[in-house]
Amino acid sequence: MRSDPLCEDFLVDLGLAGKKAIVTGASKGLGRAIAEELAREGADLAVCARHQDELDAAAAELRATGRKVHAQAADVTDPEQIKDFVTRSAQALGGLDILVNNAGGARPGTFETLTDEDWKADLDVKLLSMVRFSREVLPHMRERGAGRIVNINAVLGRSPDPALFATSVNRAACISFSKTLAVELGPDNILVNSVNIGSVLTPQWENIRRRRAPNVPADEFFARAAEGIPLHRFGRPDEVAGIVAFLASERGSYITGASIDVAGGAGGHI
Ligand SMILES: NC(=O)c1ccc[n+]([C@@H]2O[C@H](COP(=O)([O-])OP(=O)(O)OC[C@H]3O[C@@H](n4cnc5c(N)ncnc54)[C@H](OP(=O)(O)O)[C@@H]3O)[C@@H](O)[C@H]2O)c1
Repeated sequence: MRSDPLCEDFLVDLGLAGKKAIVTGASKGLGRAIAEELAREGADLAVCARHQDELDAAAAELRATGRKVHAQAADVTDPEQIKDFVTRSAQALGGLDILVNNAGGARPGTFETLTDEDWKADLDVKLLSMVRFSREVLPHMRERGAGRIVNINAVLGRSPDPALFATSVNRAACISFSKTLAVELGPDNILVNSVNIGSVLTPQWENIRRRRAPNVPADEFFARAAEGIPLHRFGRPDEVAGIVAFLASERGSYITGASIDVAGGAGGHI
């Protein structure tokens, strides 16, 4: 609780209590922070990831908030697993209001090094997972007369880097997908937004550090990597979770088709 009585003026009821939310890739990193934030705001959750053990650990912590949690191992590149997960999530929670498409990962490689297989795999986990999840949740959201879809993308989709060629190109497609879907679903009162991540410290980045510079201490590696970021630091997962919860909430009721960077100012675009 805040002790300053003036702060009460700033308390915002997000209106998320009792809402039913899917968060993909919620066993760790950004997805987990987003799921935790939504649970703290009173939402019931359905979460997925491929590794059952990590998912179970995350689900146990989420349940400690007192919210209902459906956890199911599912690969977001598999259309049948997506269908099954969405169906069972809606059954377990009693409907669906919110979808956060978060699962994914970076795919390093320049135009010269990427194979067709790399391109297909990257499209599957990024763009097609969003397409397929959105398709599956639509009937449930239409049934409720409203819905929120938040797509976790990358600032590279607006400010490309050839060293992450596939990520740059495919995230641009994901951002366009979000806007185009927002236009199509506006009349259904289903709001769709894109949150574009810069560099946020998660297990994904820990893996990158271990691969690229296993002997460099973490503090030093991340300080050096942050030199090009205007805020001169990596973001924290909770700094992403807040804006996602807001976009999913009643307070974000007139925001759709937006593409919002959470990147500490990174990227040369305007
Ligand atoms: N962190 C950043 O700086 C950054 C920057 C730009 C964009 N992003 C994007 O933000 C999202 C989250 O990134 P993060 O840094 O939190 O990554 P992370 O720490 O590696 O966590 C990724 C989560 O997604 C799950 N996941 C990955 N592939 C999956 C699949 N095929 N099916 C189901 N679940 C899958 C992982 O669990 P399993 O491995 O068990 O499946 C895990 O729960 C990703 O889409 C990433 O591309 C992050």
